[in-house]
Amino acid sequence: SGRARMNNDVEKVLYTQDQVNQRLDELANTLTEKYQDEFPVLVSVMTGAMIFTSEMMKRLNFKLNVDYVDVSSYEESSESTGKVKLIQDLSHDIKDRPVIIMEDIIDTGHTLKYLADLFADRGAKSIEICSLLDKPDRREVDVEADYVGFKVPNEFIVGYGLDFNGLYRNLPFVGVLKRSVYE
Ligand code: IMP
Ligand code: MG
Repeated sequence: SGRARMNNDVEKVLYTQDQVNQRLDELANTLTEKYQDEFPVLVSVMTGAMIFTSEMMKRLNFKLNVDYVDVSSYEESSESTGKVKLIQDLSHDIKDRPVIIMEDIIDTGHTLKYLADLFADRGAKSIEICSLLDKPDRREVDVEADYVGFKVPNEFIVGYGLDFNGLYRNLPFVGVLKRSVYE
């Protein structure tokens, strides 16, 4: 089947759907305690955080608004320059609002540094970062998530929203892509 062909490109599964679900329950409980009377804006970073955001939203038991941004990083040759460009802005005014940024993975940290600085400039009451995955070995700028699902090794991760060239986002688990697919 098509699903079997897609799965053939995966080297190994790091976290199964059940393991991810269990971890999201824990993260959501923590956030639910903290944000009970805060009325935050949940900002999903498209497109990678789409599944993570929607799975988390269902578990968050407090009043919130949902919004999203889309960003892309400028690339010079094949090397990332660390410059980030806003492609799609928020539709909410976040002045004096608590903001929770929902991200798929923190890699170099440039994307989240850019967004956190942008939202701080706009007068957000507070800014916290909730990331499904964290690749701490790759960090280039000083930014940390307040809530992390899983720390992952320095390998190319796909699934649960994360892509390679736009593919594999719909895999329902977190896995490592075979090197032969991208080399
Ligand atoms: P950063 O700005 O370097 O932290 O990168 C953030 C973005 O790079 C993430 O939102 C992902 O879209 C993408 N990214 C980083 N590492 C991976 C990976 O292993 N698999 C898929 N996408 C990744
Ligand atoms: Mg992304």
